[in-house]
Amino acid sequence: MTADNTLPGPYLNNDKTSFAWPSARERWPSIIESIIKDVQQTIEETVLAIEKEKEAGTGNEDPSVKILLLQEKVEEGKVIITQTTQLLEDLKNDKPLIPFEGTEADLLDYNKELARIGPLTWLTAPWLFSECFMYRKLASFFTAQKRWVTYDPYARQKDDAFKASKEGVYELAHRYKELAHQLKTHRITPESQRLLFKEFTDISLWGNATDLSLLTNVSLDDIKTLQGAETRKKNEANILVNDLEKAYESLLAKREATTPVGKTVRVDFVLDNAGFEFFADTAFILYLLDSNLADTVIVHPKNYPWFVSDVLPIDVLTLFSHLSNKNFFTDAEHRDDLDAFADRLVKYHADGKLLIRTSPFWTTYHSFDEIRSDGAGKAVWEDLKDSDLVVFKGDLNHRKLIRDLEWPRTTPFKTAIGALATSGIKVLTLRTIKADVVVGLEEGVEAELEKKWVEMGNENKLGWAYSGKWAVIQFSDGSN
Ligand code: F6P
Ligand code: MG
Repeated sequence: MTADNTLPGPYLNNDKTSFAWPSARERWPSIIESIIKDVQQTIEETVLAIEKEKEAGTGNEDPSVKILLLQEKVEEGKVIITQTTQLLEDLKNDKPLIPFEGTEADLLDYNKELARIGPLTWLTAPWLFSECFMYRKLASFFTAQKRWVTYDPYARQKDDAFKASKEGVYELAHRYKELAHQLKTHRITPESQRLLFKEFTDISLWGNATDLSLLTNVSLDDIKTLQGAETRKKNEANILVNDLEKAYESLLAKREATTPVGKTVRVDFVLDNAGFEFFADTAFILYLLDSNLADTVIVHPKNYPWFVSDVLPIDVLTLFSHLSNKNFFTDAEHRDDLDAFADRLVKYHADGKLLIRTSPFWTTYHSFDEIRSDGAGKAVWEDLKDSDLVVFKGDLNHRKLIRDLEWPRTTPFKTAIGALATSGIKVLTLRTIKADVVVGLEEGVEAELEKKWVEMGNENKLGWAYSGKWAVIQFSDGSN
């Protein structure tokens, strides 16, 4: 969070005109309630498992170690429910944010920032800081309990939503198989290479339209209408800024410069959501590797369950296994396509061409202008500066890139990303817009969007910016 007075202020939870307002009052409580329900369900399942163990027991007086562990899990689960319920009450009643008790470095950093900008209350705090604080708090309740350290309270929702995305998954797996065949049997002309790059970035971009933190009011059935090639085509005109050509040229120049001397080209993905979005990202990744535009791809998931649907390291491997599991995607006629897709991913992973790398930085509150040699994201900077293109996925990553400040919407992207613009890092952001902060628009576009949104039958003209119907693709080459 910035102390620079020349910058605009952050979006606040008590701003009625911002999506922060309904987020803090409606979406967050509903997300926390679903965590409580999920933990309750796991406790019930654990109690049943204890019963079963007992029935199968040897008749000894002493409970087996397994039973003791399960009982411990139940007791710890109750503690998590008490803490989570308390957080929900604090949030609803606009109580102060309470510092963390743990001693991990990132928690101390949260506390330090809270002391610097606080005291804060839940319904008046800066949106981005309080939202990160809330997810980190929730995560800390689980990691404090031995039997729940790696538990993901959103895993059930992630799986359900991914299953409900099957039409989009089948369509994309089929498209990929066609492409793989083409790449093997035909010489790809530079023009088709360029078009394919565009197609797969589009797939990855619009994959972001269906994250679970926004789907609190959308049925799983609605998901499929948001996915698929036809929808993407219709959405083409909704990309408000499109720097894709520049990103492509920059990557291509790297490829061409490195090919004769045998150096490698590396692309990184700072991931967003698991399920369909990550699947769409992997289609893009396979294309990059298969077409030799990149030699290695490094994906960066989060260390803790985050903003409901964000990818955890385990979700990467879970994607591989879901795709190859005929009980997860059950329609036999698509099996070959799914297997081919999964096999390719597994192979690239085994060959060390598709790598997973985590950092505690991604679950801090820091904006990405801290990714620099003297910033809080120094370690990430050390790593990403060696990449030939860093793709930032989704809305939250974008909010952090442009610092979630109340910029005029015509502010240049490079101004909004601050020090990152000259950090040497090649930034490509693929974002469907789900929060107020937007930069880089041409003069007059904002007014047109507001008008259009009202003509579409919506009351609040500002709502276009939280609808996920518009998108931006923005690029900075890190050098000016
Ligand atoms: O703005 C709505 C919101 O849910 C924010 O809380 C968060 O920044 C974002 O959308 C999550 O979306 P994504 O998964 O695309 O980052
Ligand atoms: Mg997300």
